[in-house]
Amino acid sequence: MSAAPIMNANIAAAAEAAGCPYHRRAAEPAAKSHRTVEQLPDGTWLVRGYREARQILRAELTKQSGFMSNLATQSGGVIQRLPVLFMDGPDHKAMRQESGKFFTPSAVDRNYREMIDQLSDDLINKLKAKGSADLSELTKTLAVQVASRIIGLTDSRLPGMPGRVSGILDNSNSLSKGGSFIGRTKMMANLMAFFHLDVKPSLKARRQQPREDLFSYLLTLGYTDIDLLTEAIVFGVAGMATTREFICVAAWHIMERPELRDIMLSDDEEARYNLLGEILRLEPVVGDLYRTAQTDITLNTPDGEVTIPAGARMQLSVVAANADASVVGDSPDAVCPARPMAEMKPKVPDYMLSFGDGDHRCPGAYVALRETDIFLRKLLAIPTLKLEKAPDRKFVDIIRGYELRRMVVSV
Ligand code: HEM
Repeated sequence: MSAAPIMNANIAAAAEAAGCPYHRRAAEPAAKSHRTVEQLPDGTWLVRGYREARQILRAELTKQSGFMSNLATQSGGVIQRLPVLFMDGPDHKAMRQESGKFFTPSAVDRNYREMIDQLSDDLINKLKAKGSADLSELTKTLAVQVASRIIGLTDSRLPGMPGRVSGILDNSNSLSKGGSFIGRTKMMANLMAFFHLDVKPSLKARRQQPREDLFSYLLTLGYTDIDLLTEAIVFGVAGMATTREFICVAAWHIMERPELRDIMLSDDEEARYNLLGEILRLEPVVGDLYRTAQTDITLNTPDGEVTIPAGARMQLSVVAANADASVVGDSPDAVCPARPMAEMKPKVPDYMLSFGDGDHRCPGAYVALRETDIFLRKLLAIPTLKLEKAPDRKFVDIIRGYELRRMVVSV
C-alpha cells in the first residue's frame, strides 16, 4: 500500500508556471511515451491517445474484457444472464435502453434528489456532532444508499449493508492471480451475508409489490436470484465504490484551494460541474478500460495508420487519454477549471473518458455528479472545515484505480 500522494516535481513546476498549481494526487500516473498506440510484450495493445481510445470505445465490434469479465462469462451456467457491464451487442443495447429510464436527469431529480439531500444533511450533522470523521466512511454510506435505491436494495433484514458491500469490494483484489486465501474467504463471507440479508429480502418485497427500480424491472425479464446478485455486485463496483472515491478525491483537491472552494459554494451550477469534471478528468477512478477486438480496427495515429487485429486485447489508458495534450492543451496533469478543450465532434466532455464512452458509457454519470455536488456543497459550507489527515491510497486491480481511506476531516 502506498500512503503518500504522488508528487512529480517536474509536473508540479510546469503546472505552477502555467498557473494551475493543483496536480494529480490519487490516480496512478500513466507511463509517458510519445506513442499513442503500441503493442506490449504480452500482445496487449496499449492505447494512450484520447481520439484513438474514443474510436475503439465507439466501435461496434468489440467485447468487454475488463473488470474480471472472465469470471462472469465462465461461470459454468451458474449465471444465466450476464450483468449489463459484461453484455455486448443487441441484447446489451436493449437492456441499456430499457434501464436508462432510471438514470435520466429528470428521473434522478424526481426520485432521488430529496433523498440525497436528506442523507447528506444527516451525515454532515453526524460529523458536526462528533467534531471529526473519516470522510471515506461518510462517502461510503452516501454512495451505497443512493445506488441501492436505484437498484431496489432497500429491504435488508439487518442494518450494515454498506459494510457488507465494502467487505466484498475491499477484498476483491484477492480474486487476482496470487490473491490471498484469507481475502477470498472474507469476500465469500460478505457475499453470502449480502445475498441473504440484503438481496433476498429486497427481491421478496418486489415479487409481492413491484416498484420503480432496477430489481423490479429485471424480475419481469425472468432474472434468477443469482443473476440479480451478480447484477447487484456489478452495480456495487460500478456505482458505489467509484462514487465514494470520487467524492473523497474531489474534496481533497478542493479543501486545499480556497478558490476552488469558492466555485463549489457559488450558485453557478455550470462552473461547479465543470470543476468536478476537471477533477475527474485528472483523477479517473477507473484507470484503464479493456476491450477485445472482434474485427480488425484501423486507427489514424500521429505516427501513421495502425491496425489492431481481430482477437487482440486492448488496454485503453483513461489516465493517459485524459491527459492527451493535443485535446486538453497546456498542463494536462493539473486541475485547470474552465480549460479550453480541442474542438471535436461529438464535443469532448469535461471529464473526458472517466465515465467511459460508446455503448458501455456509464449510465450513472448524472447521479454521481449530482450526489457529489449536493454533498460537497454542504460539507464545504462549514467554515471551520479542516483536513486533519490526507487519505491513505491503494491501487485496486478490479477497477484499475485508486481507493482512498482514512481521510480525516474536522469541523
Ligand atoms: C464517479 C462515479 C462513477 C465513475 C467514475 C464511473 C465510471 C464508469 C465507467 C468508466 C464505466 C464504463 C466501463 C467500460 O466501458 O468498460 C462505467 C459503467 C457503468 N457504471 Fe459507472 N461510474 C460511476 C458511477 C456510477 C453510478 C452512480 C452507477 C449506478 C448507480 C454506475 C453504474 C454503472 C453501470 C451499470 C455501468 C455498466 C454499463 C454498461 O456496461 O453498459 N456508475 N462506469
